[in-house]
Amino acid sequence: MAEDGHLHHLLKLAGLEPKVLLDILDQAETYLRPPGSAPARDDCLAGRTIANLFFEASTRTRASFELAAKRMSADVLNLDVNTSSRIKGESILDTIYTLQAMQADIFVIRDASAGIPALIAAKVEPHISVLNAGEADVSHPTQGLLDLLTIRQHKGGFDGLTVTIIGDIAHSRVARSLIEGLSILGNSEVRLAAPPGMEPDPDHYPGATITSDIDGAIEGTDVIVTLRIQRERIREKSSLMTNPEYLKQYGLTEARLERARADAIVMHPGPMNRDVEIAGAVADGPQSVITRQVTNGLAVRMAILATLAGNRNLA
Ligand code: CP
Repeated sequence: MAEDGHLHHLLKLAGLEPKVLLDILDQAETYLRPPGSAPARDDCLAGRTIANLFFEASTRTRASFELAAKRMSADVLNLDVNTSSRIKGESILDTIYTLQAMQADIFVIRDASAGIPALIAAKVEPHISVLNAGEADVSHPTQGLLDLLTIRQHKGGFDGLTVTIIGDIAHSRVARSLIEGLSILGNSEVRLAAPPGMEPDPDHYPGATITSDIDGAIEGTDVIVTLRIQRERIREKSSLMTNPEYLKQYGLTEARLERARADAIVMHPGPMNRDVEIAGAVADGPQSVITRQVTNGLAVRMAILATLAGNRNLA
């Protein structure tokens, strides 16, 4: 946050005022359009430059930030780590200083190391904003916002809801950001159900119930968020179960979903491993809001860019 209370960098949701989150969700709603119609556009970032620096794989976040920036009329730079000078040994800060010298205004950063977005935010010139697009297992604030928007659209709000997250929570930045956002916006019950070895650090989830009883955690819940196994963050892979065994023991099957409320929604941040953490029939079923999350992701990222533009009179 800037000293005047406005959004300047977005590094994590924790510590933000409810109004900041709600304003972004409300603004995002204004960018949603019915399927088949032309997408929303806004020229509030005309003449400004957004640099997308993804030093870790991404489909949804990268594509939606790129589309959001283009639909806000910004100049967009997408740096491909595999062809950038980082593979020649250039430090990330030297990469940032190089692009800063080309008048980039907003850096969108995904990196596998904790602390990189905050480091960059501390080092760039004061007029530049840094948006965290996924930081190790620590934070994914724009995912948290799109998840909050999706829950609000389907459940009307957050108070009194039961939200159950199942899967590899130990390595999940998605779970951490969603729970940070939920704790700011309402009074919901949070259940975290993980297979042995994938349980989260309880210090990151104050007040949440942590269990390995997936069936019990789903019982009567309003919202189920399924998470994939983050194999890229697990060193000892030989102990992981086979896919069919994982689905049977810990995945969201149609039989397990019946334990939830009849109007429960099923979410997944993607990328999804069908028939591992979630049965294909559930992912494609009537309670799934997974594609809605993707649509909301673009709207939320447009809203964040618009918020930065409005706060700083960039246009
Ligand atoms: N949910 C998410 O961050 O997806 P991507 O890795 O495809 O961006």
